Amino acid sequence: MSITKESELIGMKRISEVVGTTLKLMREYAKVGISTKELDEYGGEILRSYGAKSAPYETYGFPGYSCISVNEEAAHGIPSRDKTLKEGDLINIDVSAELNGFWSDNGGSFVIGEDIHNHQPLVNASKQILQKAIALIKGGVKIADVGHLIETEAKRSGFKVIKNLAGHGVGRSLHEEPSDILNYRVKTNQERFRKNTTVAIETFISTKSTIAVELEDGWTLVGNKGGYVTQHEQTILITDKTPVILTQSNEIWG
Ligand code: CO
Ligand code: CO
Repeated sequence: MSITKESELIGMKRISEVVGTTLKLMREYAKVGISTKELDEYGGEILRSYGAKSAPYETYGFPGYSCISVNEEAAHGIPSRDKTLKEGDLINIDVSAELNGFWSDNGGSFVIGEDIHNHQPLVNASKQILQKAIALIKGGVKIADVGHLIETEAKRSGFKVIKNLAGHGVGRSLHEEPSDILNYRVKTNQERFRKNTTVAIETFISTKSTIAVELEDGWTLVGNKGGYVTQHEQTILITDKTPVILTQSNEIWG
C-alpha cells in the first residue's frame, strides 16, 4: 500500500510489531516433542491477545492460524497433531495477520534443536540473501534487479530459487500490487519499487527444486524435485534510503 498519512504508518507499524512478536515467540516455543498444532494454537492465542486476526485463517479459510512447514514441505504447511517436531527438523513458520484494517506478513526457517541433518547452510543463505535484497531496495529500484540479486546469491551459495513463489505488496490486504516480487530476474519486467509503499520481501531458497507444487490436501507446497526449501520474510516500508523493516520485532536475523 501507499502510505500517505501518519495514521497509516502507525497502523502498519502496529500490526507488523504484532506479527513479528508472534513469530519470535512461536520460534522460541518450537521444541522437540511438541506438535505443529500446539505451536499453531500458541501463536493463534498471541494474535488474539493483541486483537489481531490471522490472515490465512480469516481470508483464505486455511486450517490453521499460521503456516507451519516441516522438512520436505516448502510452504503453506498445515498445523497438525500428528506432526511432532524432532531433533534436526527444518521448520518454517509464516505469520500474517490483520489489525484495524492493516495487514502485515513475516516468516522464517530454522532448525529444531541440534542440526543433525546439516540444514543450517541453507537457512543461513536464505537469511543473508534476504538481508542483501532488502539493503538494495529503495524508491526507483527495479523489481527485476532485486530478483537477479536473489538468484545470483543463491547460486553463489550452491542453491537454487523457487520460481513460482514471490514477495508482494501488503497493507490494506495481504496480497497487493506489486504481486510478483520474484526470486529471479524477469527481463521484461520494468516495474520499479515505489517510495512510501509497504511490501513483503521473501526468499525461497532451495537445494534441488525450482517449482513449488501443491499436494492433494489443497494447501501444502513441496518442491517439484524434492529437497528442502527455506524462506525468510519481512514487511518493509520503502524510502529513498535503506528501507524501514516494520517486522523487525521477529528478530529472524538474530
Ligand atoms: Co508470509
Ligand atoms: Co508473504
